[in-house]
Amino acid sequence: MDSKRSVLHIHAIIISIFFLFSSLCCRLLQEDPRVHLPSRARRSLLSSASTSNFDIDDFGAQGDGSHDDVRAFHKAWKEACSATGAALVVPKKNYLLGPITFAGPCQGNITFQINGIIRASTDQSDYGEDGRHWIMFDGVQNLVVQGGGTFDGNGLIWWQNSCKINKALALTFNNCENLITQNLKIQNAQQIHVSFDKCSGVRAADLQVTSPGSSPNTDGIHVTGTQNIQISSSIIGTGDDCISIVDGSQNVQAMDITCGPGHGISIGSLGSGNSEAHVSGVTVNRANFSGTTNGVRIKTWQGGSGSASNIKFQNIEMHDVSNPIIIDQNYCDQDEPCKQQKSAVEVKNVMYQNIKGTSASDVAIEFNCSQSVPCEGIVLQNINMQRTGGGSATASCNNIDPKNIGAVSPRCS
Ligand SMILES: *[C@@H]1O[C@H](CO)[C@@H](O)[C@H](O)[C@H]1NC(C)=O
Ligand SMILES: *[C@@H]1O[C@H](CO)[C@@H](O)[C@H](O)[C@H]1NC(C)=O
Ligand SMILES: *[C@@H]1O[C@H](CO)[C@@H](O)[C@H](O)[C@H]1NC(C)=O
Repeated sequence: MDSKRSVLHIHAIIISIFFLFSSLCCRLLQEDPRVHLPSRARRSLLSSASTSNFDIDDFGAQGDGSHDDVRAFHKAWKEACSATGAALVVPKKNYLLGPITFAGPCQGNITFQINGIIRASTDQSDYGEDGRHWIMFDGVQNLVVQGGGTFDGNGLIWWQNSCKINKALALTFNNCENLITQNLKIQNAQQIHVSFDKCSGVRAADLQVTSPGSSPNTDGIHVTGTQNIQISSSIIGTGDDCISIVDGSQNVQAMDITCGPGHGISIGSLGSGNSEAHVSGVTVNRANFSGTTNGVRIKTWQGGSGSASNIKFQNIEMHDVSNPIIIDQNYCDQDEPCKQQKSAVEVKNVMYQNIKGTSASDVAIEFNCSQSVPCEGIVLQNINMQRTGGGSATASCNNIDPKNIGAVSPRCS
């Protein structure tokens, strides 16, 4: 026993000396340290002083598409999160991954570089009782997720059992601060593809979000309780809203968005179950909708309170959209009819500017505002909507007196 222990001891000393020398000589000679060192050492020396690289495969990930690599992702995250700046690399392979939470706060900034494909486990027992999340980043600051790779929620099995089971959100960013998500594909989510929940300072760019138009509840990008978020240059086609913006969201910009199939870009629903909701400062600029059920929509339930205010929809193209422009303050998405209620979420200061294209239904503009809390400060400027296939479209307007600037067609009479 004793001799074995001392052999181990000597081994340890030799290894330490080896590391000391190799790191010294590398620093002195400024050589590429990758050539001879084992992977652990390589990790810490690979990049600049402030960033360490962590390759998921060095933590035992197999990337064979059939073995759940969740433990390797956990371990790699733990190390990356406690480094003073880390790049976590997912190589160009095919990873199967059960539900996982990447929890912060972390020591330094983290870049999650996704080069390969990450597919969700379809084993429902993996998701536990709650089953609400597949991949969640929780309480992480200064995070960048990028790399051109793919998150695939493997949603088919959930869509088929849509009403019977809890369905996980695919990618959730919860309580984050200074987040960049860019150049990624997110597809076939169990339900919502990407959710920004209670975040501040988010840039989401060059995302490609896709699932079949028939997949239930698969919102593309969901924004809730989040401030200062910009979503840009993204192509979204799913079975529900391309972008949905709900309670507590403020200063939300969506620009250069391609949407379809899907339910369009929605603010709301707000105020369900007599709740109070606030959304303000939303700009949708340069969007192209094709074959969606809605274009730009604001939807609130009767009986709610709060407001949706300071909203701009500008420079928008619509192609064969069923309800291109819609405010529905009588939104009711339940089996029993909703009863008439006095209170409502206010809808005020909404600007529609430079919107053109075709409507798949006769009614291109529908403003169904609340009788007790009418829509206020609605402006339409340069609107030109035709019926798909030719002919004129109409506007249906209740409890609203919008201001028209320039050529507006159709318009409220
Ligand atoms: C960490 O990220 C923040 C926000 O992106 C940035 O301002 C800061 O310079 C970064 N720090 C380091 C050490 O890179
Ligand atoms: C919008 O989408 C339609 C249909 O996909 C396409 O024909 C059109 O060129 C697009 N417009 C812009 C400005 O990209
Ligand atoms: C507006 O909402 C009310 C209440 O839900 C509904 O009865 C009515 O049909 C809607 N009007 C239009 C034009 O859709």
